[in-house]
Amino acid sequence: MASKTIGIALLGCGTVGGGVVNILAQQRSLLRQRTGIDFVLRHVAVRSREDYPPQADKLPMTTDANAAIDDPATDVVIELIGGTGAAAALVRRALEAGKAVVTANKALLAVRGRELLALARKNNTVIAFEASAGGGIPIIEALKQGLVANRIDALLGIVNGTCNFILSQMTQNGWSYAQALAEAQKLGFAEANPAMDVEGKDSAQKLVILGSIAFNAQIDEKDVHCEGIDKLDAQDINFASELGYVIKLLAIGERVGDHLALRVHPALIHHKELLAQVNGSFNAISVYGHALGHALWYGRGAGRMPTASAVVSDLVGLGLGTTQLAFQQLNILWDQTPPAQMLAFDKLCSRYYLRLQAMDQPGVLAQVTTILGEAGISLSAIRQHEAHTPDSVPVVITTHRASEGAMRHALQRIGQLSTITAQPVCLRIIDQPKEFANG
Ligand code: HSE
Repeated sequence: MASKTIGIALLGCGTVGGGVVNILAQQRSLLRQRTGIDFVLRHVAVRSREDYPPQADKLPMTTDANAAIDDPATDVVIELIGGTGAAAALVRRALEAGKAVVTANKALLAVRGRELLALARKNNTVIAFEASAGGGIPIIEALKQGLVANRIDALLGIVNGTCNFILSQMTQNGWSYAQALAEAQKLGFAEANPAMDVEGKDSAQKLVILGSIAFNAQIDEKDVHCEGIDKLDAQDINFASELGYVIKLLAIGERVGDHLALRVHPALIHHKELLAQVNGSFNAISVYGHALGHALWYGRGAGRMPTASAVVSDLVGLGLGTTQLAFQQLNILWDQTPPAQMLAFDKLCSRYYLRLQAMDQPGVLAQVTTILGEAGISLSAIRQHEAHTPDSVPVVITTHRASEGAMRHALQRIGQLSTITAQPVCLRIIDQPKEFANG
């Protein structure tokens, strides 16, 4: 028997909103039985009647989001509009009215999170955002509470389902980039503007959120070095595979001494690594805690029902009061923590994969290896296939660890060689766990 009712205003009823409506309708009695709370959808607000979902006649539809928020029967506002425009104004309105907010909006949290968290605190309310990173995977709850005993040394993950789907299809099925992207859009996990996915920005925003909690620091989006998969060449996927690696778009945050380094870029990971086996739209987040050691969270990081699952878990936390308690008492969110001390990107070290298009003539490799040697960069492997074209041949080199600065300098010099006929391709190789496990 429900002893309490939580009234909900849902703002936005697209892919994820539809999933929330579905769960609240189909699991209403289960949720009531588990929590003793009746979660009641009071309003479903969309921009215009054209945006009404197919089941609109069975829902409390409105185009007046402000009235939906202001209704005294609304306890929780779920913002699923996305972006930093209208969504920001509506979230502010809800918080100023003392209403709790649930959001999946990583852009809003990455860009204006600090301001909104502080506003929630000022108005004695709360923002819950489990669905903003990792979709249905309860990684934010884990970082906030499950791992609270740990100093987190590193966090790295596949946090964009669209990019992972594209790379998986290109690697496993030989699909073209365009074909895989079109399919990801059809399946409903790509952003409205897929440039956010493929340029790495979506991953960077998720890293801002996860890193801020994991490292208890204020992180700005501009602190994250960001490279996407949009410039990746299919031949590098094939060369990586010959060497025993797969290419994934990784979001990586790590402590380097007293500093933090944060980056998103495509990376080669050994095919036997767990992350290498994360395919399709799945996400996985590897965390290194000083007490726990290495742990991995794996699951669906995007899509209608997985993301709705996380939204409803936030609703339950608010209904029970545990989310408010944690929000008030844990000093780990980025309106309360100091600014991150960032490591200069040039100082960050990793292994590298280089692909050079070189003239097939005597002395070319000697020139290249001399430059790398002079930069203090040691080679780990080198591979050249017999030429099928008369003038140039791809040469693939992997290196031992070197700094970004040393590599950038060496690449500049290599690119200037008259025997190198195209801009060198440089990707990082990530060897977890040995790179990240501190003892
Ligand atoms: N576009 C995102 C992705 C959706 O592909 O992962 C979830 O944030």
